Amino acid sequence: TVYQATCTAPVNIAVVKYWGKRDTSLILPTNSSLSVTLSQDHLRSLTTARCITSSTSTSTSPRDRLWLNGDEEDINEGGRTARCLAEMRSLRQKIEADNSSLPKLSSHPLHIASENNFPTAAGLASSASGLSALIATLARLYDLEAHGVSQSDLSRIARQGSGSACRSMFGGYVAWEQGERADGADSVAVEVAPASHWPDLHALILVVSDKKKGTPSTAGMQRTVATSALLQHRIKHVVPERMDRISRAIRERDFDQFALETMADSNQFHAVCLDTVPPIFYLNDVSRAVIQLVTELNRASGRAVAAYTYDAGPNAVLYVQEKDVKLVLDVVLQYFPQSAASFPDPFATGVAPTG
Ligand code: DP6
Repeated sequence: TVYQATCTAPVNIAVVKYWGKRDTSLILPTNSSLSVTLSQDHLRSLTTARCITSSTSTSTSPRDRLWLNGDEEDINEGGRTARCLAEMRSLRQKIEADNSSLPKLSSHPLHIASENNFPTAAGLASSASGLSALIATLARLYDLEAHGVSQSDLSRIARQGSGSACRSMFGGYVAWEQGERADGADSVAVEVAPASHWPDLHALILVVSDKKKGTPSTAGMQRTVATSALLQHRIKHVVPERMDRISRAIRERDFDQFALETMADSNQFHAVCLDTVPPIFYLNDVSRAVIQLVTELNRASGRAVAAYTYDAGPNAVLYVQEKDVKLVLDVVLQYFPQSAASFPDPFATGVAPTG
């Protein structure tokens, strides 16, 4: 018999950045973070998992296999994907032990195919949507939710695939509480507000470069933990208060405050990268020109019209209220006319509830 499930998962873009691990194998962060989950219309990962329980399938193909965007990838033993698969299997195993009538899916290999509808190379949080799509798909295949496994349990497993993935298990405005326990049980994503709470917030993605990023985030953040004094200041004296202020701004739909905190946090994240030895550079001249443009637009308007934020790469994400989307697009295209030519569809916009 063939059992199969398919799910999609969205990208999330942090406004308070996760950068640093206190436990690299369980993926426990040095600070809490907060992100906005984008609608799946433009950016999403789609994953199908298949489990074949007939005896021939196990004898001819006894191992788990994974295809990313059509190419088969190795599942490294002891690696993150293998760990996620083992965690999901063990949840299913417990359910099978309690319900003898259920098919024994946990003892059969999985074939998993995943694809993004955006270029992985552009560094647009592909790991977050990819890993959360994997966990959501296996949860459906194994029918875990019907047997009492919560979204929060799943986010704990997604976290072990890629830290930021735990936030993509929820739609809307999502915090990842750093937690204190050594086993990571309290390091989970929680919803701050559903997307419907503030539906007129849009995300514009300006693809400055679709080249693969220089320093991968996993390696970069460990170098920062090992060498940056500024990171210690950020962890202790900046992020806790910022998490409170930005959560309040979201609850009150206060865009000025939201924009202030978002831009300050992006700036501090990149300052921390520069404080790393050797230094890490993610922004380029175009990224910096976009920062100047947004700063000038906000100053001239006497209010926050747009908020920029940058992850581990040069591409800008601008958070903008619906009433200002056209204005911001016009201004960006006026200053960067070549962007329309080189990237026919450079903008993905919209925040929507995700199922
Ligand atoms: C800059 O989640 O990709 O996007 O846990 O090592 O897989 P790993 O790192 P990852 O790091 C994301 C870093 C960031 C900030 C953020 O999304 O909060």
